[in-house]
Amino acid sequence: MLNAQVIQQLQEFAQSSKRITALTGAGISAESGIPTFRGPEGIWTVGAKEYRPMEMATYRTFQEQPYEVWKWYLYRMGVCAAAEPNPGHLAVAEMEHSLPGRFTLITQNVDNLHLRAGSSPEHTYQIHGNIFYARCQAACGFGIQPLPEGLKAKGKGDALEEEEISLLACPRCGSTLRPHVLWFDESYDEIHYHFQSSLEAANQTDLLITVGTSGATNLPQQVAWLVYQNGGTIIDINLEQNPFSELAEQSPGGAFIQGASAIVLPEMAEILTGRGGDGETR
Ligand code: APR
Repeated sequence: MLNAQVIQQLQEFAQSSKRITALTGAGISAESGIPTFRGPEGIWTVGAKEYRPMEMATYRTFQEQPYEVWKWYLYRMGVCAAAEPNPGHLAVAEMEHSLPGRFTLITQNVDNLHLRAGSSPEHTYQIHGNIFYARCQAACGFGIQPLPEGLKAKGKGDALEEEEISLLACPRCGSTLRPHVLWFDESYDEIHYHFQSSLEAANQTDLLITVGTSGATNLPQQVAWLVYQNGGTIIDINLEQNPFSELAEQSPGGAFIQGASAIVLPEMAEILTGRGGDGETR
């Protein structure tokens, strides 16, 4: 899948002290069976009304019907809990551990699969949050906490029990807990979503590997532009052309690799970790 030019680039990066950042999106988890936001599986029905994720995943909807939003997140949390990391996630974790101090992961995914695959919390910026965590909607200082014990995954259409509703009260101030995720009508910040840290990482990045993202959100776009403007190399892995493909092809030594992340990333990891890459085109 990798051509000779990409293999050579990766070998050079492996032998240097240059910094590498991976920026991942829903595509890397598609092969673990997690539906993307924009597919038909995303539709959620409340009474007679159908909601799209762009409506459900908003602070506004949470204000209007917090427990409907929670039901939706607890259903999706169950899907994520049942999924397993795939070779793409494992390859990213391997890259981090074999490039100590010079690898950062920025992920838009809230499914926790990167951390379960072995990526470290210190070097992983979950810029859209993590579905297995909650925080107080009143920002009382309760902080980002694992979902309360006793709160179980829900099937589609399952109601929340009284006991579960009481578990969703903030233990510190009594307000309602909210999922620790960035909603469509909210903005990035550092304290919850590593906004500045991601931009700083981008500024120091020599090689950016974008994976399985449609490039539709603001921070990933800024990250890619910063790397590009600073003269860094971009390698984009995706099944389809996307806004990052062209940028990658225009960056020095960059490339768009059209393929599945679970196949391409392990090949790249093999070279970056020094286990492979004899210069032959595969
Ligand atoms: N390998 C590589 N790429 C893949 C694969 C795969 N196996 N499967 C799908 N893709 C690509 C698709 O071609 C598409 O470009 O992954 C991308 C997924 O795009 P989106 O569903 O838009 O996901 P993402 O870019 O992560 O969305 C960004 O928007 O919906 C919100 O907050 C949500 O974090 C999400 C953000």
